[in-house]
Amino acid sequence: MNKDSRIDILHRTAKGKESPRQVEQACHKLQKMFEEAIQMITLMVEMRDCHTAGHQQRVAQLAGAMAEELHFSDDQVWRMRMAGLLHDIGKIVVPIEILGKPGRLNEIELAIVRTHPRVGYEMLKQIDFAAPIADAVLQHHERMDGSGYPSGLGGEDILLEARILGVADVVEAMCSHRPYRPALGVDKALMEITAHKGTLFDNSVVDACLSLFRQTGFSFQGQPTMTRPEPEGSRPVKPRCGPEACVAAG
Ligand SMILES: [Fe+2]
Repeated sequence: MNKDSRIDILHRTAKGKESPRQVEQACHKLQKMFEEAIQMITLMVEMRDCHTAGHQQRVAQLAGAMAEELHFSDDQVWRMRMAGLLHDIGKIVVPIEILGKPGRLNEIELAIVRTHPRVGYEMLKQIDFAAPIADAVLQHHERMDGSGYPSGLGGEDILLEARILGVADVVEAMCSHRPYRPALGVDKALMEITAHKGTLFDNSVVDACLSLFRQTGFSFQGQPTMTRPEPEGSRPVKPRCGPEACVAAG
């Protein structure tokens, strides 16, 4: 290890040999390295599925902004962003043929897709500092009325972080193209979460999201991929199943 490496500085700090400023700088650099490692993992997942490339990055942007809107601490906002980056990591086990299927998924395919929150949880729970993030990832498809998965949790049994992820996931997904439908746009996404406020989605989380877009001027950084315009005269593609909110986030 390099004499000046950040980890080395932390080791020497533990022995009282470094100033608080050097420690703070070292911690900051380590956190940045950790974030970069997570970004790389996110890219690995998204490179398998070009249809959702950038999805996790933009969910992280929105989830972090919503956490700020809800007055989370800086550390909680950071964890929220990391949870956004990692929320679909479990899709690594879902065959690409299913992720990219343009039509309706059959029951078996849907069941396979629905394993991804638990797979992500099993991967992340191994990492001590990611434990709260793992739980949020596990619950990000749970819905307030108990209609979600994998456990059918409802109301405040769902972690607030997971409720935030759920809304951020749906809004971003509806703003982006999917193999089975064109991008629907921000207005439609906001109408969707408003229509299901209090039933599928948490009231305060929906309010925070609406406030971000309508009052704070939030917009996603980075273009959603695959936002190709539909050919003229093409028929709109029907959602795979059920209410849009249930399928938009995948
Ligand atoms: Fe998901």
